[in-house]
Amino acid sequence: MSHRILHKEQLIPGQTSKLVVDAPHIAAKARPGNFVILRVCDKGERIPLTIADADPDAGTITMVYLVLGKSTALLETLGEGDCIRDLCGPLGRATRIEPCGTVVCVGGGTGVAAMHHIAKGHHRAGNRVVAVIGARSAGLLLFEKELSAFCDEVLVATNDGSRGRQGLVTEVLRARLEQDRAVGEIVAVGPVPMMAAVAETTRPFGVRTTVSLNSIMLDGIGMCGACRVTVAGGTRFACVDGPEFDGHEVDFVELAQRLAAFKDMERAAHDHYCRCQADA
Ligand SMILES: Cc1cc2nc3c(=O)[nH]c(=O)nc-3n(C[C@H](O)[C@H](O)[C@H](O)COP(=O)(O)OP(=O)(O)OC[C@H]3O[C@@H](n4cnc5c(N)ncnc54)[C@H](O)[C@@H]3O)c2cc1C
Ligand code: FES
Repeated sequence: MSHRILHKEQLIPGQTSKLVVDAPHIAAKARPGNFVILRVCDKGERIPLTIADADPDAGTITMVYLVLGKSTALLETLGEGDCIRDLCGPLGRATRIEPCGTVVCVGGGTGVAAMHHIAKGHHRAGNRVVAVIGARSAGLLLFEKELSAFCDEVLVATNDGSRGRQGLVTEVLRARLEQDRAVGEIVAVGPVPMMAAVAETTRPFGVRTTVSLNSIMLDGIGMCGACRVTVAGGTRFACVDGPEFDGHEVDFVELAQRLAAFKDMERAAHDHYCRCQADA
């Protein structure tokens, strides 16, 4: 079933865009932590994207994506009024949200948008929400305003110091944990090295740390095995057992290796796509 794009915004021109899509059935069921798998066209690859927000009354869901390779470049060619060929979801287990006092939600890069929906869920459950967001520089920061609307604190880190504290989100997180021993849970969404670093930062503090894994996915329903990850020494399927897991138990080294497994083919597909676009 095709879904119309009602609103498109380039958050970081040429790099990151936000889509608000008409999808009433998905919006009615979407919970923080859920994702969708979409195809831009009939022969398109399947792209998993987190639901960054959902409005059941308007019947819309919001997705934010980084233009990375061939399929997201193709998605980026769509504009308002165009239709996404198909959209499957909501997929994955919803975030476990329980009253736990203060929750620190850490987001890096595009992961900030995905973390936004989870942070909102914790806020609605009555938890005190501290957001820690990071990017290379101020112009690449996402959702600071949106998070400020409901978070109790928004702490910012940029690599070049152009906004907030200069450094990494993990440095801000460590300082926050040293200052406040009452933090009940940490949630981290972002690049794999960032989530791994967050898990190592929180380990000595013994605070429960939830990460949202972006493993390779195909069917999204537990049949193909593409999304397998090792958690606590056992095999889990990120699409049906996750995508959220205990960060202290994830084998991040294996996850990074699996994500890089198709790099050459992905680069070739992207180069071919760019050449075809240039010739057209
Ligand atoms: C549950 C989940 C939620 C995600 N949410 C978001 C999001 O909200 N915003 C966002 O920008 N990205 C998100 N991603 C990653 C996004 O799916 C990939 O960036 C996208 O599929 C890249 O496709 P491509 O053809 O443009 O790039 P490619 O050149 O094909 O791949 C570039 C890199 O993207 C990753 N990738 C490619 N295909 C897949 C796939 N089918 N499944 C998972 N990773 C893949 C790999 O790491 C790969 O090396 C999510 C992934 C998962 C699994
Ligand atoms: S994506 Fe196929 S089993 Fe998870």
